[in-house]
This record gives sequence, C-alpha cells and structure tokens, in this order.
Amino acid sequence: MIEPGLSASFAQAVPSAAERAAAGISGRRAHRRRPRANLAPSRLGAPISPTTAPMALGLPGGRAMKRRIAINTGGGDAPGLNAVIRAATLSALELGFDVWGIRRGYEGLFDGDFVELTRERVRGITHLGGTILGAASRFDPLRAASDGGSRAAGIVAAFRERGFEGLIAIGGDGSMRLARALVEAGLPPVMGVPKTIDNDVAGTDTTFGFDTAVAIATEALDRIHTTAEAHDRVMVVEVMGRTAGWIATAAGLAGSADAILIPEIPFDLRAVVEKIARRDEVGRRFSIIVVAEGAASAEAVARELAERTGKDTRSLVLGHLLRGGHPTARDRMLALELGTHAALELGRRLDGARAGQPATSGMVGVQDGHFSVVDLTVPATQIRRVPATGSLVSAARHLGIAFGDEPRGAFASR
Ligand code: F6P
Repeated sequence: MIEPGLSASFAQAVPSAAERAAAGISGRRAHRRRPRANLAPSRLGAPISPTTAPMALGLPGGRAMKRRIAINTGGGDAPGLNAVIRAATLSALELGFDVWGIRRGYEGLFDGDFVELTRERVRGITHLGGTILGAASRFDPLRAASDGGSRAAGIVAAFRERGFEGLIAIGGDGSMRLARALVEAGLPPVMGVPKTIDNDVAGTDTTFGFDTAVAIATEALDRIHTTAEAHDRVMVVEVMGRTAGWIATAAGLAGSADAILIPEIPFDLRAVVEKIARRDEVGRRFSIIVVAEGAASAEAVARELAERTGKDTRSLVLGHLLRGGHPTARDRMLALELGTHAALELGRRLDGARAGQPATSGMVGVQDGHFSVVDLTVPATQIRRVPATGSLVSAARHLGIAFGDEPRGAFASR
C-alpha cells in the first residue's frame, strides 16, 4: 500500500514491514520517517532512503558484506572538497574497500542518508566547488539526545551497525575536535583531511581551499584599486578569517593593500590614519585596507576612518564569495594528494589493526614540503595563526603595508 504523501516510485522502493522483519532490519526510526524533500535524485543519483539503506549497505537481504569505510565532510564547504572525495574514494576502492559517503556531516548517519561512492559517482567532480555530500548543518553530534542519552553513543552505534571499519573525515579544527571526541567514545579509526579556506588548522602547513580564496580576494582587490583610485576613496575590504588572518595577509600582500588588519596583531587605527595621510601627501589619494573578519568589521573600520580622515570611504564584505566556485589548480592538486594519502594511510592502519596492532586515528597534512600524519590531538587543541614576525608579515612591512601597530611617524619617510 502506498502511504499518503509518498510517491509511488519511492513507496515501491521501501520494503514492507514483513520484508523488513524477514531481512532482519529493525529500523524503528525508518517506520516513522517520511522521505525528506531532498530525496529527489541528485548528481549522486537517488539517495538511499532510511528504510532501504541497511539492505543496500549489505545487511541481511542485501548483497554480500565487504570491508567498507565511510567519508564525510564537516563544517562549511571549501573549494577542493570534491577533489578530496574523488581521490579518497578511488584509492580506497583500489585497496578493496566499499566506500560510502555520509551526507550532511554525521547527520546522515541518523536518518540513513548515505550514498555509495562508486567510480561512476565520483567521476568528473575534481573541478567542482561545493561538496557532493552536502555540508554539515548546525546539527551538534555531541549534544545530548532528546531522551537524555548521548548522541555520540548513537553515532558510534550507527557506525558500527553499518559495518564501517573506518572514516575519512574532511574538515577544519571543529571537525577534528569532533572526530577525536567520537573516537574516544568508540568510533573506529578516523583519518582526518584538513579543510578550510582560513588555513588555520594546526598540524599542516596548508589547507586546500586557501589558495582559491586568496586568488579570489586578490582579484577583488585588483578591481577595487581602479575604482578607489578613480574616486580618491578609502576602500575597506573584509575577508573571511575568524581566528586567523591568513587570507587577509596573503591577499593584502598580493593585492597591494595599504593596510592589513588581522586578529594576530593588535592594531590602533591611528597608525592606519597616518598611513592614509602620508599617501595623500605624495599624491596617492586613495587607500585600500584589508580586514580579517576576526579583527574587526569592515563597516566599523570604514566609519571610523571616514570620521578621522574626512575622506570618502566605502566598505565591502567578500564573505562567502571566497568559498564558492572552482578550486584553483593548486588546490585541486593538494586536495587530490591529501585524499589519496588519507585513504592509503587509513587502509594501512586498518590492516595493522586486523593484524593486532592498536587502531589509531590521525590527520594527514603537509609539513615542511612532505605529506605527514599527526595525531588528532594536534588540530583538535591548537589553531595555526599567522606568525606576527614571520616572513609573510615581514615582507608586507618592508613594502610599506601598515598593520596598525606602527609607532607614530613610522610612515613619514615613505
Ligand atoms: O571556517 C571558515 C569560515 O570561512 C570562517 O572564516 C567564517 O567565519 C565561516 O567559515 C563562516 O561560515 P558560515 O557563515 O558558512 O557558517
């Protein structure tokens, strides 16, 4: 019988209660749930419904059980995510694993929202922005469940029930903290892949998505230059970077900003006002100020500068523009290498565990030009900030770019 509200084709795909019982599928939740609106076929093909998932995953009644791992993506998207998914999938398939994508972070675990990642499904996605697995929502997997129990325990149970031997978790520091907590709660080994345009994950010298974000921000600054110069204006440009000013510093340097304000360097706008005044004196009547969102809002800085300099000032926020669209070639390469590396390392550790070695988790990355693996504790407990005395900041300072911490008169001779 077709339940009201279900399409005929969907209802036909759902086994009856008797069929479910015969197949040994408990799935109480599955009885209650209606298909969500996003169950429409997507680029990934038709999603597996909550009720069909256990069968399709090879539980009783489905095809034979094979070693399998899962992949998920946590937090916001970053250009290169799909390249990681493709590379990790192809490498894991080569090792003999079945690979399943969990949609929307860990949330898909709760409602059976999985997709099998076959060669076919990951074809032609290297250059695509976004993520074919969907980004995690505000769902907090560590919050207590409504019945007072721990959601972490539910995740671990669901994971084991599905027969996943390990997880490739692609995400930023928050995702690595979460992965570590879940491993402590009993999740099988996790291999993290650092992802964020902010470039602030500890345990790796760089993250995929950063290069693309810097390229977009730099192009924006190039464009803003011409209009700022035409109008003799001060333009204040805000870029992403909640806790670290990597994008602001790199794009500010590449895009010839006049001042860069980042969370790592406490600033006083008097130094920026002085910089603008010196530029005016030498006939450069426009100025470009780049602000990392974690340092200040462009709007507040623009208001203050307009008041103090009396100049026509405008602000703009580049925001999510920096996260959208195609990854650069460099980000694709990094993402493909990290994805491959993560699958091979996870496979190696899972084989070791089968041979009696302790099953350990970690995060792949790049350190001193080499691919590396660090304990999950590193990204889970630290943030990688822009070194205030490092070469990037130092080069910018030598070019006369202000960071707002300069003493009075610092720009007099420039
Ligand atoms: O973590 C990356 C980041 O780009 C931060 O710089 C920014 O604050 C955040 O994502 C914004 O994320 P959303 O608005 O999508 O939650």
